[in-house]
Amino acid sequence: MGFKLLSAIVLVFSALHATRAGLIKRVACDDGVHSVTNAACCALFPIIDDIQENLFDGGECGEEVHESLRLTFHDAIGFSKTAGGGGADGSIITFDDVETAFHANGGIDEIVNVQKPFIARHNITAGDFIQLAGAVGVSNCLGAPRLPFFLGRPTATAASPPGLVPEPFDSVDTILARFDDAGFSPVEVVWLLISHTIAAADLVDPTIPGTPFDSTPGVFDTQFFVETQLKGTLFPGTGSNEGEVQSPLAGEIRLQSDHLLARDPRTACEWQSFANNQARLQNRFIAAMQKLSVLGHDQSTLTDCSDVIPIPKPLTTQVAHFPAGLSVQDVEQACTTAAFPTLSSDPGPATSVPPVPPS
Ligand code: HEM
Ligand SMILES: *[C@@H]1O[C@H](CO)[C@@H](O)[C@H](O)[C@H]1NC(C)=O
Repeated sequence: MGFKLLSAIVLVFSALHATRAGLIKRVACDDGVHSVTNAACCALFPIIDDIQENLFDGGECGEEVHESLRLTFHDAIGFSKTAGGGGADGSIITFDDVETAFHANGGIDEIVNVQKPFIARHNITAGDFIQLAGAVGVSNCLGAPRLPFFLGRPTATAASPPGLVPEPFDSVDTILARFDDAGFSPVEVVWLLISHTIAAADLVDPTIPGTPFDSTPGVFDTQFFVETQLKGTLFPGTGSNEGEVQSPLAGEIRLQSDHLLARDPRTACEWQSFANNQARLQNRFIAAMQKLSVLGHDQSTLTDCSDVIPIPKPLTTQVAHFPAGLSVQDVEQACTTAAFPTLSSDPGPATSVPPVPPS
């Protein structure tokens, strides 16, 4: 009796142990180099090598990364509870004749044409490739979080309906309503806009292509949330500066939508919360991108291949700061429940932010 009970207990414990071991078991890939949790993910390593070598120029965080991240959004946001659309389904590439012609997709044809041959030479759908390239690209940026990646999106069957991609001259009401229709709360909109810390504009003001949204477009840091809170001047009317706000920092461009979201009572405190909090910046961006990247899909039908994404290098020295010549005096405080964090100013005279070079 006593022995039976003992062996039963031993059995239960070894079963528990086996289950635990099963959870962390990794499969060796045929390449003899990598191991992954799910064997289906092994097929991604040659694709990632190709992406790093030939799309991102050996692993840089430059224009192609910025454009690839923007593409993850412009594909996925083609999803509406009311108007339809397949979300993150690759339709922006599969039906590019339709979607790249949308006004809000201006400039997107460039990265679509760059990514197409990669999809053609690998066994991967456009929907999977767009999100994979986005996650791999972000991993090249110093200070970035390691984004999740799920595999298994089928090929899109239709183009996205028009009018689903937000524009920089849209009002906050319009933007928040559009995101709500896609399943995102106002706070989650702020999380998604963390992306603009590694971003520049070619077409908002076509006379100054590559003009960045913050002073460090090649680093995944919090400067975007510091610099968008500085006093800026709205351009009146709907001329060539439509959707643009004059930043006090030379060489930098500010979207009207970012400017207004930084000041709206529904989003201002969340916006400010990122001004000096790198850890929060990283984990909220992971949550937002996870949701965006599977929009239109039942996540349980996809395979979690997050462990194929390279681990980004951490930011070690740089801390949030005011650019030279600017200080807390220049902050346009919008959050009413918390003060702007205390930051030091860069020494020396005011400087100009250089444009992001074209690749
Ligand atoms: C209110 C929502 C948004 C608006 C109005 C908006 C608008 C814009 C505009 C006008 C540009 C400049 C395009 C150009 O002239 O070249 C831009 C760039 C960019 N956007 Fe957004 N965006 C929004 C949300 C997002 C989201 C959710 C993501 C990603 C998750 C994203 C990622 C990017 C990136 C990475 C760039 C830089 C592209 C480059 O440097 O080539 N944006 N965005
Ligand atoms: C292509 O990938 C699918 C799964 O994503 C797989 O079932 C199929 O066998 C692959 N085809 C080739 C030729 O490798």
